[in-house]
Amino acid sequence: MTAGVAADPRGALLGVYRPAEPLFVRGEGSTLVDEDGKRYLDFTSGIAVTALGHGHPAIRAAVERALDTGLIHTSNLFRTAPAEELAHRLAELSGLDRVFFCNSGGESVEAALKFARRWAGRNREGEAGPRHRIIALRGAFHGRLFGSLAVTDREAYQAPFRPLMPGVTFIDPEEPAALDEVDPSDVAALIAEPIQGEGGVRCLSAETLRHFRSWTQANGVALILDEVQCGLGRTGHVFAFESAGIRPDLLTLAKPLAGGLPMGAVVMTEDVAEAIQPGDHGTTFGGGPLVASVANAVVNQVSDPDSLAQVQEMGRKLHGLLRGLQERHPEEVEALRGRGLMWGVQIRGEAGAVMKRAREAGLLVVPAGDHVIRLLPPLTVSSHELERAVTILGANLP
Ligand SMILES: Cc1ncc(COP(=O)(O)O)c(C=O)c1O
Repeated sequence: MTAGVAADPRGALLGVYRPAEPLFVRGEGSTLVDEDGKRYLDFTSGIAVTALGHGHPAIRAAVERALDTGLIHTSNLFRTAPAEELAHRLAELSGLDRVFFCNSGGESVEAALKFARRWAGRNREGEAGPRHRIIALRGAFHGRLFGSLAVTDREAYQAPFRPLMPGVTFIDPEEPAALDEVDPSDVAALIAEPIQGEGGVRCLSAETLRHFRSWTQANGVALILDEVQCGLGRTGHVFAFESAGIRPDLLTLAKPLAGGLPMGAVVMTEDVAEAIQPGDHGTTFGGGPLVASVANAVVNQVSDPDSLAQVQEMGRKLHGLLRGLQERHPEEVEALRGRGLMWGVQIRGEAGAVMKRAREAGLLVVPAGDHVIRLLPPLTVSSHELERAVTILGANLP
């Protein structure tokens, strides 16, 4: 072992993260407990993953049921029931038709880009050249693999790894009419997050989403909506796109899907699915029986009408508390953005310093850029926990 590894408190783990100090040993609902027994209100949910909180009985029961069968993995060479049940449920809930399972958000975007190109290639025979271009949005974050990184608008993430996948055009989501200037003849897909999470919790308006839908439909372009972060109940709807009254051609899901076990999915129309041939794409682990069993439990829970109504009610409560915070601290709080239980508080100072003080006071939050504090409580959060979190935040503003 080198001296560097020996001197690092995290031992041999690669230094791509700078984790904060607490070492967590237990989780209970909205709370994480560190090795000294200190309790923290977890308004990160592991970056929008643990939507049912920590230690939820439905997840424990699903894991136990799955382990009782002895099937953790069989590969996609064979059929297993949990993946088929989950695909059926996701198709039913989204109004789409077919599902591909993978293992992360980045992988779901990677697959969606490939499927869209395959579909556009098939649909556009007879045109001058193959349709390959992808339109993405300024401020977008879709992942860190080569394809998903190419449609992510972050110079610092892209620069060290160029050349990336070519053929990406970025447009400003604040000016959706810019789309009308784009020549669609070589465009395969438009990809957008209905709510940009990493980009500062910026919600696309229903009008913008509808404009994207009508432009893509009119021009034979696939619309990919990335709901890896904002999907599966977080907005108080199963999917964020529902409130715009549209439906994408491809939908990417991941973070909360399997309650903290790694799983991603691409849900698509039959028309897209028909363009995909055996061998076009694949994965060893995607849709395995253990993760799919847990995901079935999560999806049942987050799509339950009572649970969605609860998210809407708690979302209104959180918005109200944040408005009160802004009224009391007009100098420090510049803007509030969000929907349901996904909120960004834009502050005048450094988000990192506020996060650190909040953590010391027992509240965990996530940054979304240098000046935005992101609140992503579990969808099971209580009214009292929301009050406590906003009180701690208020006491630790710049
Ligand atoms: C909207 C969106 N898409 C894709 C990703 C990438 O997901 P993963 O980190 O699981 O690869 C993220 C991660 O934050 C995301 O927020």
